[in-house]
Amino acid sequence: ATARGLRVGSCFAWGAPGADRGSFANPSYAALLKRDCGILVGENEMKWQAIRPSATQFDFTRFDAMMDWATANTLPVRGHNLLWHQPKWMPAWEENYDFGSSPSREAERLLVEHVNTVCRRYGARIPSYDVVNEAVTPADGTLYQTALSRALGGPEATLDLAFHTARAAAPGAQLVYNDYMSWEPGNANHRAGVLRLLEGFKRRGVPVDALGVQSHLVTQGMDARTAIAAIEGEWRRFLDAVTAMGYKLVITELDVRDNNLPADIAPRDTAVADFTRGYLDVMFAYPALRDVLLWGMTDRYSWIEGFEPRKDGAKRRPCPYDADFAPKPMRAAIAAAIAAA
Ligand code: G3I
Repeated sequence: ATARGLRVGSCFAWGAPGADRGSFANPSYAALLKRDCGILVGENEMKWQAIRPSATQFDFTRFDAMMDWATANTLPVRGHNLLWHQPKWMPAWEENYDFGSSPSREAERLLVEHVNTVCRRYGARIPSYDVVNEAVTPADGTLYQTALSRALGGPEATLDLAFHTARAAAPGAQLVYNDYMSWEPGNANHRAGVLRLLEGFKRRGVPVDALGVQSHLVTQGMDARTAIAAIEGEWRRFLDAVTAMGYKLVITELDVRDNNLPADIAPRDTAVADFTRGYLDVMFAYPALRDVLLWGMTDRYSWIEGFEPRKDGAKRRPCPYDADFAPKPMRAAIAAAIAAA
């Protein structure tokens, strides 16, 4: 990847000792991250819910520990995220906040303080931020409102302010809008909403450098090539429109949900690997793509098992390494896609 000017990496997590979910606290996982990754991202520990227990408090204990470990191992870390703009993912105190007699001023103050506090704390150690995460409603492509955005004068004003503030506080960092609009036909409204948002950023002169393409893929059956051939046209039109506006692309959260596949491990792993390869071949055709981050290197810690377990009870296998840290065909597929890029 390095030889091709690409970076490949993964999310990692804090993980209490003894409950080392995705964490460098597990020496086997730490070794794997160091061996395979050129960039990392905190899975949860920079979110408002993690670092901002109240309007007047910040708690960086966990994320600081992760940054210290990454810095000690000379690994850059992406910032995820400065604003996950949905009521569900903001802290409860924010949704119930009393913005007082000048709501827009107070909302601005809260948001600017948040972005400044995070960006100034980590400086050049964070080369890229998901400034805003998942602000578009998948069903109809409109923007979510939160208590913050209602007080501030609407979602556009809120997202714009987050980006302008991040640019000033982290002038060297890549600023990303991150979302999970995917390539299946059922996601057309989501993609259209993201395109409208990106067009609006351009029109208003908002400093957004890249679209974060999360890439939580869902397999469509055994024959990956046929499945991909059926959906890639629409997807390319979307990426063409995004990159024509001058945006870079970042694959921010790649993993594969093995739906529509029988439980047998060997053919399932092969199908997942084929699907990953086909996807990356489409994506690497865009020179605007430089960084690829997995949402976890090992099936052991993947969020998918908890989010959507398989109906047949077989364990999910969404990552390049299995639960015992042994490489799977998906890892070879990623390496082959990079070699062909
Ligand atoms: O840490 C607490 C623990 O103390 C508590 O006992 C336990 C009980 O529920 O919850 C633990 O927190 C959970 C946390 O993951 C750590 O495991 C939260 O409930 C759970 O909501 C949280 O889920 C995360 C989710 O984002 C919401 O923040 C997933 O791990 C994480 O993989 C997922 O990541 C998102 C990206 O940020 C954005 N894109 C989609 C992606 C997948 O949903």
